[in-house]
Amino acid sequence: MAAEEAAPGTPQGAGAQETLSNLLHEGRRFAPPAALAEAANVRADAYQASRADRLGFWAEQARHLHWDREWDQVLDWSGAPFARWFTGGRLNVAYNCVDRHVESGHGDQVALHFEGEPGDRHSVTYAELQREVCRAANALTELGVHAGDRVAIYLPMIPEAVVALLACARIGAPHSVVFAAFSPGALRSRIDDAQAKVLITADGYHRRGSVVQLKPNADEALQADGGAQSIEHVLVIRRSGQEVPWTEGRDLWWHETTERQSDRHTPEAFDSEHPLFILYTSGTTGKPKGILHTTGGYLTQVSYTHRAVFDLKPDTDVFWCTADIGWVTGHSYIVYGPLANRATSVLYEGTPDTPNQGRFWENVDRYGVSILYTAPTAIRTFMKWGTEIPARYDLSSLRVLGSVGEPINPEAWIWYRENIGRERCPIVDTWWQTETGAIMISPLPGVTETKPGSAMRPLPGISAEVVDSDGNPVPNGAGGLLVLDQPWPSMLRGIWGDEERYRQTYWERFADQGYYFAGDGAKKDEDGDIWLLGRVDDIMLVSGHNISTTEVESALVSHPAVAEAAVVGATDPTTGQRIVAFVILRGGSEEVATLAEELKTHVAKEIGPIAKPRQIQVVAELPKTRSGKIMRRLLRDVAEDRALGDTTTLTDASVMDLIAAKLPHAT
Ligand code: WT7
Repeated sequence: MAAEEAAPGTPQGAGAQETLSNLLHEGRRFAPPAALAEAANVRADAYQASRADRLGFWAEQARHLHWDREWDQVLDWSGAPFARWFTGGRLNVAYNCVDRHVESGHGDQVALHFEGEPGDRHSVTYAELQREVCRAANALTELGVHAGDRVAIYLPMIPEAVVALLACARIGAPHSVVFAAFSPGALRSRIDDAQAKVLITADGYHRRGSVVQLKPNADEALQADGGAQSIEHVLVIRRSGQEVPWTEGRDLWWHETTERQSDRHTPEAFDSEHPLFILYTSGTTGKPKGILHTTGGYLTQVSYTHRAVFDLKPDTDVFWCTADIGWVTGHSYIVYGPLANRATSVLYEGTPDTPNQGRFWENVDRYGVSILYTAPTAIRTFMKWGTEIPARYDLSSLRVLGSVGEPINPEAWIWYRENIGRERCPIVDTWWQTETGAIMISPLPGVTETKPGSAMRPLPGISAEVVDSDGNPVPNGAGGLLVLDQPWPSMLRGIWGDEERYRQTYWERFADQGYYFAGDGAKKDEDGDIWLLGRVDDIMLVSGHNISTTEVESALVSHPAVAEAAVVGATDPTTGQRIVAFVILRGGSEEVATLAEELKTHVAKEIGPIAKPRQIQVVAELPKTRSGKIMRRLLRDVAEDRALGDTTTLTDASVMDLIAAKLPHAT
């Protein structure tokens, strides 16, 4: 591991590799701050210990939780690729996330600082959270929800969303959260696939200064095609206060139903492998996959990674993960990880630019946020808005910064470090997936000497490799495919209702070796540190050269005029694929035509002439999924002058009309 084997060697700058390099000219390394290293929750020796006894290491992490019955066996891999962790163990997730903290005398500690977009705010203590979760668990039970029944959740970022998830977990009813900005069609297909019995939603919520209606969408979803057969009741939380359509008998107000319940509820201990939730990932093709996560292994790994990667100190830290609860990052690092660790967290309803572009920094300042976890897409947006905005705020409470969701360009990494971390805070670039449930590859903030743009090494307890197409590990300095070669506690336990698709999607590619294929390209640098290169589908083949979209994007963003870039490979009769780039300019950039030429030259200089984009299109926005990932598939449709594929998972579908209108028909 980086600092363990450290010998802070020769800085590896551009030129160290003759081939493509997304290090660009950034060769600096950043050692952990001495004080943080000294007091870090996890030290370098964890790598050694976990390698010597991997299962013993995980058993030790599991002991941070409360088990009503201890497990018989740490891992049962006899049914591979279906893992069973902590077999025979029994525990209750909600008890672990809430009650035990109250019982240990921390009932008055704030669990959530809620910040509504209009500026309404209130804090919820662990004792209050316990009472709310108990009432909600009693309400669900009264509605006939039993352990094993599925509950669909279609909610904005409000404290009741956290309560709803925990209430489901408490009674053993797996939840299926559907992002609030998803369409009625997307909600319905997820309800049907999981055969959810109850839907929990809200009247509406606040976004960008206006009220977004939610209940009408939920109704539309439930009414289509003769009606959703599985849904018996809809619980509606009052958030926005507007009038909503109502179906007597089916619809119930959350507040009326929960307020009359007892605030006591005895948690039942569930089997370690009891299903905890289903979360649908869109994937690039086909219908969404219902990723299934279970109880003991999941909670063990989310709480361990939250403690290790963010160095959480429950008595003093304030943690803010800016993701949405509708995304796995929200499940693992807004709800389960932080609460299992007795963190005090911020929960923010709105967007970063309402009422102004300083809203995030105002939140950091107001709550004294010490650990911030956000996405590269947000960081690049802040870059576009300019350094003067964060400069107006007191960000001195920050001590650890995290990034997740896609590769972070060195440019954005450095910007984050300088303008948000003010050169004091380690950055943890965390690689993982909905399927992995928790962080897998990341620096440790008190151990690792970081390199801007690299997620560095698998965490203690985790094993990953970069392999060639035959499954052989590539040497340092080479690229290949990222695989996970050992099972991990929070791994998915399958795709809901589709065993075959689970085997095919993740296990067929390297069936001989028994590796999990993550679908990402990666390379190992000269030190063996890992650089993620994006989805394999996003690697271009130009005149026989593999070029990663991430690398070209990083080169474009390293030009002062470019705020954000998306690159795709379009089919080309001569070169196989040609590179088409879509760029967003920083405010007030010059002549577009001359700039396009300049950018091409810039990329050629940074990476090599082979990586030079053939076309560069200036756009105002890029098509993104809810998790901030650029939907290159749609840009490829535009570049290849084709009808657009499925746009239902876009946050804003109108973006595509603007882009398509601007691009001259490709030749
Ligand atoms: C895919 C998983 C993990 C929660 C958020 C997304 C990409 C994620 C990184 C990172 C490079 C990253 C990968 C991965 N990704 N984090 N730090 N560096 N790439 O969850 O929607 O399931 O997407 O996101 O391509 O496979 P997801």
